Amino acid sequence: METKTVITEFSLCKTEELNTTYQTLVSRAQEQTAKAYAPYSNFHVGAAVLLENGEIVAASNQENSAYPSGLCAERVAMMYANAQYPDVAPVAIAIAAYTQGSFLANPITPCGACRQVLLESEMRYEKDITVLLYGTDHVYLIDNIRKLLPLCFEKSSLGR
Ligand code: THU
Repeated sequence: METKTVITEFSLCKTEELNTTYQTLVSRAQEQTAKAYAPYSNFHVGAAVLLENGEIVAASNQENSAYPSGLCAERVAMMYANAQYPDVAPVAIAIAAYTQGSFLANPITPCGACRQVLLESEMRYEKDITVLLYGTDHVYLIDNIRKLLPLCFEKSSLGR
């Protein structure tokens, strides 16, 4: 038997250390938490996608009384961006979460289903999507979605 190790690398930084484009993206994600529809979890998530033409598409989580029918903020934002701008590559996504009166100190990281959806967009446009996960203590900066989903299933896995 052989054991292999997968190492994922990311950076921790303060919001002020980000460039102005990324600071704006993070603010848009923060603002978007106020528009979440989260009556069941009270966990308000905002996501903002930066497109390569400079436009920002932002969205929030949308819950449902049939719980699994709800959708995470990053999936709503990315799918809306891809649907609305099919010819424009997404280049970054910021995510922020707000609950019980404040933003979380530590960033939340996307769920597995969202990672898979975000990966599809990265593969579709053949362009890295930088991930900015906001927390009041620090921001996680990740170079691309692939780093969030090692050993992934993707188009090439279908053997086509
Ligand atoms: N949620 C997101 O929108 N994004 C994440 O990265 C994690 C979780 C949402 C789903 C649900 O509406 C609520 O947060 C609690 O899980």
